[in-house]
Amino acid sequence: MRYRSRLHIDLNLLAENILELRSFASSKILFMVKADGYGHGAVPLVRFTYEELGITEFGCATLGEAMQLREELPDLKFEVYVFSDVQLEDEELAEVYLHHRIIPVLSSFDSLNIFLKNPDFRHFPLCLKFNTGMNRLGLDSQKLDQVIELLKKSGRMSLYHIMTHFSCGSLPMKKNKRNLYQISEFKRIKEELALAGFEIERTSISNSGAIEQKVGLDETHIRPGLMLYGPSSLLPQYRELSCWKGKIISSLETYIIDVFKAERGMPIGYGASTCPDNGLVAIIALGYGDGLFTGFKGVELCHKKKHCKVFGRVNMDMTQVFFKGANSDQAVAGEAFVIWDHDAKKFEKICEQTKLIPYELFCQLTSRVPRVYSLSE
Ligand SMILES: Cc1ncc(COP(=O)(O)O)c(C=O)c1O
Repeated sequence: MRYRSRLHIDLNLLAENILELRSFASSKILFMVKADGYGHGAVPLVRFTYEELGITEFGCATLGEAMQLREELPDLKFEVYVFSDVQLEDEELAEVYLHHRIIPVLSSFDSLNIFLKNPDFRHFPLCLKFNTGMNRLGLDSQKLDQVIELLKKSGRMSLYHIMTHFSCGSLPMKKNKRNLYQISEFKRIKEELALAGFEIERTSISNSGAIEQKVGLDETHIRPGLMLYGPSSLLPQYRELSCWKGKIISSLETYIIDVFKAERGMPIGYGASTCPDNGLVAIIALGYGDGLFTGFKGVELCHKKKHCKVFGRVNMDMTQVFFKGANSDQAVAGEAFVIWDHDAKKFEKICEQTKLIPYELFCQLTSRVPRVYSLSE
């Protein structure tokens, strides 16, 4: 565990992002907190958004993640969905869903059959995810007739939630042919289900990329993940299509362990990387053991308003940062050093330089970096 290296999560900024989202979207929010809240710690985020912001529905990827929320937040009455790693075929796990009211998102005929055949699920929320063109998980929208037949045979005429997921949400919604096709397929599914006499309580289609382009806001629910942590989900070349003005809710902070003067040509660290110029080298207390992977080499950062660069090979526990031609007071041992803060533009720049998508930059931070939360009054 680190002490001066930490991911500092400002819950006020999460609240601001949610209020910003609500300023243009009135659908209910199903907040995606899988992968431990995209690396920020799902449990504190669920507690905070439930208690302070009235969010009552959350999305996980695995039953283990959902169970962690149930076990650590037994006093809160929220809905939690498991989206991908459902494993309903395992009878013991089916019991876990039932006993803890965890909603499995049914994405295959096999899991739908298991659900419908188990009398204990008779009055349990039935949630279906359709494949409308993503071609990953999902009930084939071309086989809607078979889904309808199965449901009717089992006497289930009420659907708790039907959803689909875009394959190209980071691309233009109103121009991309696949997105337009998925939208029209989902519309058809809803119409045919209604025509067949089904009562549908909840519908959702949009994750961040679509929400930022104001698509899917007429459904009862939206399913934002990334945007609520701050960044836009749109690819850099399409960002002008996004209305999102989120703030990064976390800052990745560390400190300078040591500093020394370096001269052009001096070999530094593993691999004896050659110092490109005269300047200062600061050794900061984060490395790939913390999630600062080797692709950070060359990334431009800023310290006390001066540019600096990750230099040479990133180590497991520390990283060299080079200040070209700097005075000795530019970087001082013991000083705090920030990798990213709440400025979305700076965060996006790190993504571009490391060639990581923002999802990865958050998720790759390891458990050695403590997550620390703050909330101003
Ligand atoms: C089905 C589903 N809905 C919503 C989301 C949230 O996506 P995003 O983080 O892009 O908002 C995800 C994430 O992958 C997902 O798989």
